[in-house]
Amino acid sequence: MRFIDLRSDTVTKPSPEMKQFMLQAELGDDVYGDDPTVNMLEAAVAEHFGFESAVFCASGTMTNQIAIKTHTIPGDEVICDITSHVYNYEGGGIAFNSGVQVRPVMGNAGKITAEQIEAQIQPAIINLPRTSLVVLENTLNKAGGNFYSLAEIAPIAAMCKKHQLPLHLDGARIFNALIETKDNAKDYANYFDSISICFSKGLGAPVGSVLVGSKLFIDKARRYRRLFGGGMRQAGVIAAGALYALRNNIERLAEDHKRAKAIGECLAQCTFVQELLPVHTNIIIFKLKDQVPSDVFLGKLKAEGIIANTMGKQCIRFVTHLDFNDEMLAKLIITLNKISNLEL
Ligand SMILES: Cc1ncc(COP(=O)(O)O)c(C=O)c1O
Repeated sequence: MRFIDLRSDTVTKPSPEMKQFMLQAELGDDVYGDDPTVNMLEAAVAEHFGFESAVFCASGTMTNQIAIKTHTIPGDEVICDITSHVYNYEGGGIAFNSGVQVRPVMGNAGKITAEQIEAQIQPAIINLPRTSLVVLENTLNKAGGNFYSLAEIAPIAAMCKKHQLPLHLDGARIFNALIETKDNAKDYANYFDSISICFSKGLGAPVGSVLVGSKLFIDKARRYRRLFGGGMRQAGVIAAGALYALRNNIERLAEDHKRAKAIGECLAQCTFVQELLPVHTNIIIFKLKDQVPSDVFLGKLKAEGIIANTMGKQCIRFVTHLDFNDEMLAKLIITLNKISNLEL
């Protein structure tokens, strides 16, 4: 049975055209800087976001972790929202890889303000940790795909500059945010010191993330990529997937958002839903009523050929993506209505 897979936008398979492009990629040893496809991808992504330089890595976790390592020294403190991916879902990597602790801030639907961050900056006293980095996320995974516009980011960036505090963006789904805000991608360089960008989420590439920043920052990050075991050889074969995605799969993200909104409208009418987060992009998060245990609900979906994930107690997450089409959407809506009628 081929499942309709809503667990994440990471479940997509490369299209035949993407695979063909990957097969034809020119390759070289990237640890020597010799892979023309990796070099092309790094230059294209840096240019796209208005940065000087970029480094290609295996995953979004790796680009985030390398960025944090590059910006900090052990004993420092990082400020981020309490729902952040870097804080919740990277295996405690901030402590493990960088020897740095987190000062989480309780944001509003995942978004934190300049005032909230500024209130958490430690005074320069030797018995306090040194605040050395702020991390934002766009879009916000655990906050249901909510997003920041650049207008909202501007005061945060200005406050960070005032305190000489670097600002990193976990932009795993930055293209989803850009589709909604219509901000100019190049303007991101005016606000952030580094951005991690994923190609194996909504953009449909099988592997790969890129970290962008200044030349000095990326030269340093490249050393940490090597140290973390992330120096790859003929990596152009996978970088080509990301390059294909950058050239072909951005605009279509709007379709994922449209389908996600349709799912949200359906869920808003379903009897089993206790609470539904507003649907902003391609992530739908809802809480089930107590009398509908999440494993029972997921079991009912699975019996109809649909799989999804939980995200915390009684919370379900659906993520729309390139391999989720209108036919699948229709089947999902029929199934949700059927379950809803059963629960009446
Ligand atoms: C917001 C966010 N950041 C980072 C990552 C990490 O990406 P990867 O799975 O490629 O390590 C994810 C993964 O889903 C994510 O959702």
